[in-house]
Amino acid sequence: MEARKVKKVCCLGAGYVGASTCSVVAYKCVDLQVTIVDLDAAKIAAWNSPDLPIYEPGLQEIVETARGRNLFFSVDIDAAVVEADLIFISVNTPTKTFGLGKGRAPDLKYIEASARRIASLAKGRKIVVEKSTVPVRAAESIERIFEANRKDNVELEVLSNPEFLAEGTAMENLLNPDRVLIGGSQTASGYAAMKQLSYIYSHWVPESKIILTNTWSSELSKLTANAFLAQRISSINAISAVCEATGADVTEVAHAIGTDSRIGNKFLGASLGFGGSCFQKDILNLVYLCEALNLPEVAAYWNQVIALNDYQKRRFATRIINALFNTVTDKRIAIFGFSFKKDTGDTRESPSIYLCKHLMDEGAQLVIFDPKVKHTQVIADLKHPMISEDSSRVDRLVTICHDPYKATENTHAFVVCTEWDMFKSLDYQRIYSNMEKPAFAFDGRIVLDHDRLHDIGFHVETIGKVVGPRKFIIPTTPPPTS
Ligand code: NAD
Ligand code: UDX
Repeated sequence: MEARKVKKVCCLGAGYVGASTCSVVAYKCVDLQVTIVDLDAAKIAAWNSPDLPIYEPGLQEIVETARGRNLFFSVDIDAAVVEADLIFISVNTPTKTFGLGKGRAPDLKYIEASARRIASLAKGRKIVVEKSTVPVRAAESIERIFEANRKDNVELEVLSNPEFLAEGTAMENLLNPDRVLIGGSQTASGYAAMKQLSYIYSHWVPESKIILTNTWSSELSKLTANAFLAQRISSINAISAVCEATGADVTEVAHAIGTDSRIGNKFLGASLGFGGSCFQKDILNLVYLCEALNLPEVAAYWNQVIALNDYQKRRFATRIINALFNTVTDKRIAIFGFSFKKDTGDTRESPSIYLCKHLMDEGAQLVIFDPKVKHTQVIADLKHPMISEDSSRVDRLVTICHDPYKATENTHAFVVCTEWDMFKSLDYQRIYSNMEKPAFAFDGRIVLDHDRLHDIGFHVETIGKVVGPRKFIIPTTPPPTS
């Protein structure tokens, strides 16, 4: 097949990745017709409306430019699959919640359903691209489904093309990626398919940034990239605990080590813990894979990145309770930020959810403010059975507020859980005057001016730094381990 023969692209899955990625493909490749499909009719209706189902800076403009020109959102999955020369599979691959590998292995049922649907409908030659994050050798399972359902004159070539976008900066990441990774089989048809997918990206990505590898390297690189990124956060978070115990300042330590060009300064932001739909899921995926490959030491190594993250979330919640005189029962606490990071409305695995759970377990009254997360999403997350066995406690303990000043009125404390820029410029003098005294400020993202808050009168606690006077007694010999 000639590189230029890809005319129609279909994307299965109109979620964060499928819709963002393929909207950019349509925006940049006017010679292609791109149809994004989903099982969820409400989501597709939203993509066809002015009120898009996800918030991502810059996405609205890109969708509005391309939609109706060469970008279409549809529920007619079969028609889009039949017509397409190239199909991206961008469906969800969540961690399994039941059965074998529960809580660790990725649930590949949506990938398998997509592969079976393509196999039953396909005519002629098509390129099928794994865009979802999958375990290593998932492409082999897809190929086996294709092979077992093979029809005459149908040729399906499977490629791996993992996505590296980060939410909140997805448009920047897609328009100017560090690299595009394409894995394929080391055969003439595999190589031709890789060239065709490269051709699409070459509309806006320099060729030097397009990396071609074998399929398994591509699949493993995605899991490895997320594991390395999350590992850096867990590493600096581990050091933040040492800082709090010694009087060192984690921001200064991060800056000092980040100037070493071998270490680099990115992803060294200590926090109350990482969240998001990818890091934990993908590391669990890697851990499960290592266990299946009988590599228990490797599995344990990566598992520790998650264990440390859980520790960090717990540690911060405990510090809040300790500082508030060891009881938060019936105390009003404002939560600033519910999304897992700034500039997104996504709350999946948000550390805020776990912090709220700890505080609700202790009977605290929470007033939650987030500039983008929908009210219904906050309630749904907090009523999830993993968070609240008795969902009625959320009705009793949680209020959602749309104004940060109102949210802090008569509270004993506020807690910054998400690093939204607006939190840096609030009038904290005004906030202080409307709070109960002593007023506590907990900064889980190290974004506020702690000295200023301290001067206003707040008791300030943050990650990896002690604000205000405190005595440190550092033992000269470590305590015995057993
Ligand atoms: P998502 O849940 O936002 O979207 C997935 C969509 O797929 C859903 O709308 C779902 O209805 C749809 N779907 C499921 N089965 C389908 C089918 N058979 N046909 C059509 N549609 C179907 O998920 P997401 O965040 O976009 O993630 C998708 C994949 O990309 C995952 O594997 C994820 O790990 C990976 N990824 C995500 C990110 C991110 O930042 N969210 C970044 C890189 C990679
Ligand atoms: C991540 C990867 O960055 C991206 O390449 C991949 O495609 C999907 O997973 P995402 O989860 O969207 O992207 O956001 P990211 O910026 O990586 O942040 C993840 C979490 O780590 C957030 O909760 C964020 O607040 C936290 N974080 C990030 C820190 O705590 N400290 C940091 O220095 C950076």
